[in-house]
Amino acid sequence: KKRIGILTSGGDCPGLNCVIRAVVSHATLTYDWEVVGIPYATQGLLERQAIALSVHGWDLRGIDPLLNMGGTILGTINKGDTLARASEMIAGYAELKLDALIAIGGDGSMNIIHQLATLGNWNLITIPKTIDNDVALTERAIGFDTAVNTIVDALNRLTFTAASHDRVMIVEVMGRTAGHLALHSGIAGGADVILIPEVTYTIPGLCQHLDELRNTWRRKFAIVVVAEGISPCVADFGNSCGLELNNKSPSLKCGMGQYIADQITQCTNHEVDTRVSVLGHIQRGGIPSALDRLTATVFGKAAVDLIAQEKYDQMVAWQNGQVVSVPIADVVAKSPSPVDPGSYLIHSARALGTYVGEW
Ligand code: F6P
Repeated sequence: KKRIGILTSGGDCPGLNCVIRAVVSHATLTYDWEVVGIPYATQGLLERQAIALSVHGWDLRGIDPLLNMGGTILGTINKGDTLARASEMIAGYAELKLDALIAIGGDGSMNIIHQLATLGNWNLITIPKTIDNDVALTERAIGFDTAVNTIVDALNRLTFTAASHDRVMIVEVMGRTAGHLALHSGIAGGADVILIPEVTYTIPGLCQHLDELRNTWRRKFAIVVVAEGISPCVADFGNSCGLELNNKSPSLKCGMGQYIADQITQCTNHEVDTRVSVLGHIQRGGIPSALDRLTATVFGKAAVDLIAQEKYDQMVAWQNGQVVSVPIADVVAKSPSPVDPGSYLIHSARALGTYVGEW
């Protein structure tokens, strides 16, 4: 009989509890294993904490809240996963008498935990999660779909207020260095402009597009989706954010949404009224979408089956409509995975008249 540990690491996202539910149910019902939750990622290993998790035991009335609860019941950390106390963490795995560990994380935590597993000879399986969707070798990561839906909902709301006031609404979305969130939500939400780190944009190009919308198409409002990770245009220094040259690379005192709003105000000679919405951590909350629940369920089941086969150092992945497993070392080497600038999504957005950078 195996005793397996499960932990969530890195920024939270909707769907993590669905994975925990799937792992506990499958491991218990199919294999009769014991599953323990390690709280706060590697912090739990340092503190030698293991919480017993049992199937059907979540609620007094037998209701299973894990299916539709955001966040993670195990808690998580996104800055503390370091190798500084590696030997203590490695000893924690042994002292907690784990036969295997399932870590649900993004590329950053996966990298650290994989190194710990190699040093400590752990039996490790990982499951990709991140609203940024930038884990390599998988087409899906848990949390991304719900975050896209949350942004699209915000874009729907902002469209009506923008149209009523003839305003340009700039919406800054998360994604760190990748533009997947901005691109997917911008297309689904009907944005007029989508700026992502992977595609160069120009202020004249952006402004010409907004000008055509107003003057040629008589559309007096616009929705501009800005990924938080885009860079400022070096040539455009006149903004109220206090753009400064810092070690030759420009740095901003405000977010990229405000920077873009300032550029639009200037290039339209203050004729256009702009407003900025930074969606922030709202994007990480909420009830997991059906797709995230489905992915979480099949990923959780697949992770348990990999342990049964004793096939370790693998990440569960989604490729071409199938659940597969890939070596964690390969995932770490290829992550974070950016948007392909030649992608069909970008061609489609442009074909429908959306400005997605360049010219
Ligand atoms: O990686 C997920 C993510 O939500 C990014 O999109 C964002 O830049 C970052 O985490 C925010 O991290 P924190 O929760 O530390 O503010």
